[in-house]
Amino acid sequence: MHNRPRRNRKSAALRSLVRETRLEVSQLIYPLFLLEAKKANNPILSLPGQSQLGLEDLLQEVETSMNLGIESFVLFPAVENKHKDKTATYSYTADNFYLKTIREVKKRFPECVLMSDVAMDPYSSDGHDGYVDNNGKIDNDRTLPILAKMALAQAEAGIDILGPSDMMDGRVGYLREALDEKGYTGVSIMSYTAKYASAFYGPFRDALDSAPKGGDKKTYQMDFSNKREALREAMLDEDEGADMLMVKPALCYLDIINDLKTFSHLPIAAYNVSGEYAMVKAAGARGWINETAAMEEMLLSIRRAGADIILTYFAKDFASLKK
Ligand code: PBG
Repeated sequence: MHNRPRRNRKSAALRSLVRETRLEVSQLIYPLFLLEAKKANNPILSLPGQSQLGLEDLLQEVETSMNLGIESFVLFPAVENKHKDKTATYSYTADNFYLKTIREVKKRFPECVLMSDVAMDPYSSDGHDGYVDNNGKIDNDRTLPILAKMALAQAEAGIDILGPSDMMDGRVGYLREALDEKGYTGVSIMSYTAKYASAFYGPFRDALDSAPKGGDKKTYQMDFSNKREALREAMLDEDEGADMLMVKPALCYLDIINDLKTFSHLPIAAYNVSGEYAMVKAAGARGWINETAAMEEMLLSIRRAGADIILTYFAKDFASLKK
């Protein structure tokens, strides 16, 4: 036998020498949940280790994370029911707590990268990402101006990257035009390009109390049987001016991540979503799997598939491991 692949695996140092994929902490985006309060830390039961945070607690969490080398964050608001309505008015109400938090984080930590969520669901009394008409249908074109108002308010507050997560047609181009018209040419868009109608968003909807009041999200989020359709979405997002493309969830969609990486020249992100995190945490807590090893294997597989950026609730756990 001249060829013995095992020779390249004989020690930790040699394995490290021939390692094909690495993941750096600076490639992670850490999702944080906020609520309207100065001080608050309400643990989210279905997302062990994550909490809804008041402003001061959130600033503290950003500081702790930055000390671990995490530089990028995405913010999601838990909005009280009294602020929710059919047209998500609160999302662009001047100085709402989400916009105030963006301002505060950028003031305290100007060097961090801050990403927002652009979608109606946290603010909508219907719990949908788009505007629900009187027949219960999601009206794509009535949603776009609402998203644009939300995006402009976030841009004005100082956001670095907008994250449209709603899957309405034409929204990337619509937002780009609205931003440019108002002079926000430097604000980036990371499009949720291939966001699938997934069972893995459960804990996130608990965290924000944002589950749809009626129906499901299948008329806008993608069918998980489809692959070529993701390339069509990617082509449109590129044409419309997206700066980065995202696949979501990550683990059941490694093939899609790989396709987009091959097809596009834009940076590719993957969202390691709440259900993917919760499964590992739950099995780990019972001693059924080694949580840390499973986390590393998961994150590296997402990277190996082609993701340049990973949004993950594991950001702090992974960063602590690498410290
Ligand atoms: C909704 C949104 C969702 C997530 C991010 N933005 C959930 C949904 O589409 O219902 C899910 C993130 C996660 O599960 O971690 N705009």
